[in-house]
Amino acid sequence: MRKTLPLLLLATLTMLVVGCARKPAPAPMAPAMPPSKAAEPPAAGKKFTIGMSQCNLGEPWRVQMNADIKAAVATHPEIEVIYKDAQNKTEQQQAQVREFIAQGVDLIIISPKEAVPLTEPVAEAMKAKIPVIVLDRKIQGDNYTCFIGGDNVLIGREAGKYMVKLLGGKGKIVELKGLETSTPAGERHKGFMEGIKGSHLEIVFAADCKWLEPNAQQEMNSALSRFAQIDAVYGHNDPSAHGAYMAAKQEGKGREKAIKFIGIDALPHEGVKYVEEGILAATLQYPTGGKEAIEMAMKIRAGETVPKTITLGTRLFTAQNVKSGGQEIKAGG
Ligand code: FRU
Repeated sequence: MRKTLPLLLLATLTMLVVGCARKPAPAPMAPAMPPSKAAEPPAAGKKFTIGMSQCNLGEPWRVQMNADIKAAVATHPEIEVIYKDAQNKTEQQQAQVREFIAQGVDLIIISPKEAVPLTEPVAEAMKAKIPVIVLDRKIQGDNYTCFIGGDNVLIGREAGKYMVKLLGGKGKIVELKGLETSTPAGERHKGFMEGIKGSHLEIVFAADCKWLEPNAQQEMNSALSRFAQIDAVYGHNDPSAHGAYMAAKQEGKGREKAIKFIGIDALPHEGVKYVEEGILAATLQYPTGGKEAIEMAMKIRAGETVPKTITLGTRLFTAQNVKSGGQEIKAGG
């Protein structure tokens, strides 16, 4: 028995060596990808934590976005949202995303101030397996889970088409642009140029007003002092169009009555009200996407796949249709 044990061992070893020699070396295994945090089954009683980074809360439209998120979350006691306001500071927003990653939130919603500088922090979250929903303004590339926003080219095009109609195809325009390093500004400009193509509308003055009413008012002051004839103002958002109106009014020559002002956003208590009051000739709705963001977050939590892009619709509000809730604009229209 004592002698058979070493023999047995020797036989086993030989078999192992021969076996290894015959078998092809196994292919190196790719490191197993840890499943996305959101795909893990929700632990009973544990809240699903969403980090929401809002680029600023100084603008009414952004306050509305957060309110839309809050309203959507109200029916989901299993969700907790941590809201952060970046106060229109890019570095602060970068830091916020990184704080959310360090905290280990289950999902991030970001409405970025600028495209390029927020791209890397979002990539870091994705690398940490935290799904990211990007709202309204885009980042660069497609390293995020889902983008939700309006069709800014379409909105700009509709604004242009309506302006051509308003002015009978001819006139001098002031364009008060949104922040040029944020994607909706370029898209709203591009769409507008498409909308006025072939007409005799001419942009005589353009400025980057960074989405802010005081900047728009100041730029419009310069435009008014330089041009005796201004027929219309295209504001990339309602605060810009309103700032331009205020500048024309304060100039004291009554030009605000002749100039047509068009804006974008159409919040009920802002742009739509201005149309009702006859301050703006038109505004186009720019939905916040807050409700849709929570809908997508719930799907992601349940492990469902969500579309890469969700494009929200728009409505045109004019003096003629504002009482009846505006007119729906269909994509491709
Ligand atoms: C608010 C805002 C809106 C505009 C949007 C574009 O910050 O300026 O008025 O429609 O951002 O991203």
